[in-house]
Amino acid sequence: MADTPHTNSQRTEILLVRDLDHLDDDAHQIERAATLIRQGKLVAFPTETVYGLGADATNVAAVAGIFAAKERPRTDPLIVHLADDADMARVASSVPAAAERLAERFWPGPLTLVVPRAPLIPALVAAGGATVGVRVPAHPVARALIRAAGVPIAAPSANRFMHTSPTTAAHVLADLDGRIAAILDAGPCPVGVESTVVDLTSDPPLLLRPGGITLEMLRTELPTIALPARHSAPIDQASESPGAATDSPLQRAPGQMERHYAPQARMIVFDGVGMAARQAVAAEVAAGLAAGERVGALVPDEEEPTLREAGAEVMSLGPAADLPEIARRLYGGLRALDAAGVDCIVAHTFGEAGLGLALSDRLRRAAGGRLRQLPSS
Ligand code: TXA
Ligand code: MG
Repeated sequence: MADTPHTNSQRTEILLVRDLDHLDDDAHQIERAATLIRQGKLVAFPTETVYGLGADATNVAAVAGIFAAKERPRTDPLIVHLADDADMARVASSVPAAAERLAERFWPGPLTLVVPRAPLIPALVAAGGATVGVRVPAHPVARALIRAAGVPIAAPSANRFMHTSPTTAAHVLADLDGRIAAILDAGPCPVGVESTVVDLTSDPPLLLRPGGITLEMLRTELPTIALPARHSAPIDQASESPGAATDSPLQRAPGQMERHYAPQARMIVFDGVGMAARQAVAAEVAAGLAAGERVGALVPDEEEPTLREAGAEVMSLGPAADLPEIARRLYGGLRALDAAGVDCIVAHTFGEAGLGLALSDRLRRAAGGRLRQLPSS
């Protein structure tokens, strides 16, 4: 456990896993990480979504260490990671039929199911609530670690509270070096945004956080799934006017803060795609530069040359049509622009279809809960 996490007093061991196709070559690294978990220590590890900060979910002191290392308030519940679907019955006091179906279809994978919490899982994991979020990650290193540890692993994203989620080991170390016992480094995360969270204890079931398993995919198994007010309201209600949207419907999911995933730089996100969105971004970039600011832009490849020529620092995210690639690069791009010390970061959303819903959600949060409307033409 991280005894004095604020003093950065421990040395964080870096446990390298070089080849996902030959995990046996680095089995000793996974075994070392599992031993640390069993001892109640904190170990960051890769999942297919983002890096997690793991601890034995059944050990209250270890779980308390997660909150301390991240400086995360205890009102924000943690996800419990399992090696196999069958383990859900150990951490859930009952398994709703819909949870069974979704697990069967989408696990292992980037989907978290909120189910009634069993006594094996301490209340602290669940922010004192009667439910617990569980998932079986698809990343081979995550599964090997959970299996070797022999306990369910509680893990939030391995960033300091209110920082951008980490998609590489370097991102984790930038936030938590010296505060955690070890990190398993297996390269960049293939999905790049956090898991979809679905609450199966409410009727109808609710999509609490869009993610790698899309709403369209969920509807094929769960036609009644509903969106909390935030997502079902037209996004323009979440725009401009000060105070609007910041404190409304996020309460449904504990921990779903509006200001989250946030860079230091001022974030300006236009709500829209296509030519109008490109033009709005270009105009905002030009205005910032004209005001003497250092301006960053986080945009698809197609928009890079013009903005770079104008004088912006650009992180391109991949082709506009390739949303999985954009998701993989989003957080790294945010971190890189922030590290470059720009005054503001300008971006636009990616629609609501497929992964676009998750991308737009994360961009809106990075902008403190507010999206800008495109100027009407
Ligand atoms: O992809 C992911 O989900 C990553 C990797 C590491 O698995 N984890 C992650 O954890 O993003 P975290 O703690 O950063 O976000 C978990 C969020 C919470 O903030 C909360 O909104 C929701 O999941 N959540 C967890 N347990 C819940 C519960 N019992 N009821 C409602 N929401 C819950
Ligand atoms: Mg997080």
